[in-house]
Amino acid sequence: MKVLITGGLGFLGSNITRKFLERGENVILCDNLSRRGSEVNLENLKKEFSTVTNYEAEINDVPSVIVREKPDLIYHFAAQVAVTKSVISPVSDFKINAEGTFHVARTAYDLGIPLIYSSTNKVFGDNVNDVPIKELETRYDFDGEFGQKGIHEGFSVDAKNHTPYGCSKLVGDIYVREFGGVVNRCSCMYGKNQFGIIDQGWVSYFIIQKMLGKDITIFGDGKQVRDLVYSDDVIELLMLEGKALLDGDPDIKGEVFNVGGGFNNTVSLLELCKKLGITPKFGDWRPSDQKVFYCDVAKAKRVLGWEPKIGVDEGISRLHKWVEEHKDHF
Ligand SMILES: NC(=O)c1ccc[n+]([C@@H]2O[C@H](COP(=O)([O-])OP(=O)(O)OC[C@H]3O[C@@H](n4cnc5c(N)ncnc54)[C@H](O)[C@@H]3O)[C@@H](O)[C@H]2O)c1
Repeated sequence: MKVLITGGLGFLGSNITRKFLERGENVILCDNLSRRGSEVNLENLKKEFSTVTNYEAEINDVPSVIVREKPDLIYHFAAQVAVTKSVISPVSDFKINAEGTFHVARTAYDLGIPLIYSSTNKVFGDNVNDVPIKELETRYDFDGEFGQKGIHEGFSVDAKNHTPYGCSKLVGDIYVREFGGVVNRCSCMYGKNQFGIIDQGWVSYFIIQKMLGKDITIFGDGKQVRDLVYSDDVIELLMLEGKALLDGDPDIKGEVFNVGGGFNNTVSLLELCKKLGITPKFGDWRPSDQKVFYCDVAKAKRVLGWEPKIGVDEGISRLHKWVEEHKDHF
């Protein structure tokens, strides 16, 4: 089987690439190497799999690579990934995430190639902040119907304050489903190969900063809650989706799934700092930050039998080990 992965040298992309290469599949990567660390991920993959090929392609060039390579399956992960950058440069964010995804999804559709896309919980926008919450000692939590269950896929994406990133990813999310692809609305993913920066990949960023003995600033009061999902769990789901699409499973085409750790894998920023032995500094809240987000992953369990297995402590210890092993790169 030939699999084409856009953003294949980023955090998520390089992890799934490794899995497919271990299985002996033919993997074609399209990554412009713009993410810090993507060249390290390429180097590491090449050490084990000398034949791995990356088209150093801009998102706009990906459709022509698809036409040339005619893969059996496409994973589309390449994106402008930071909310903060989308606020500073919304045009570039739109071109990569909205326009870029449209062309990739349309080309895949025209050629009859199944496509799987990584969307985000940011598509729910500020609507999430209208859910009643309660304040506990170290965290906020949803109160009422979403408490301990989380936000389901049917939650409204309408209304306001998505941030440019939330908007551009939502455009991609809608088009991918229109073209019959599968959409994954990811919560906070973390794991090996994640070169976290202040703008994105906060769990990895906190661990790296701590290792380097540098300050960590929390924007807001630190009681914000997120559900963490470890990359190996995500990859298991993405591979199940690929198999279902290739098998022609009627329950999966055009579907959207929440991908997160769910309530059992929630942590507040303050709680994570405590686990890591970090004493943070504090800054102003970021625009449209969600005070609480955790998702309901019941649909992925019902349709594909998937649920996250790697708990927060185990995941953090695996990521910690990887950061230590790669300390020369930070
Ligand atoms: N990491 C998370 O917690 C998270 C959460 C929600 C959604 N997502 C989504 O998951 C996907 C993967 O995220 P990630 O954390 O692996 O990000 P990442 O930045 O590690 O990987 C993205 C890759 O895409 C490449 N890329 C960026 N712009 C490109 C362009 N214009 N043309 C070609 N390649 C380009 C980068 O070099 C990078 O290797 C993204 O679509 C992101 O929006 C991630």
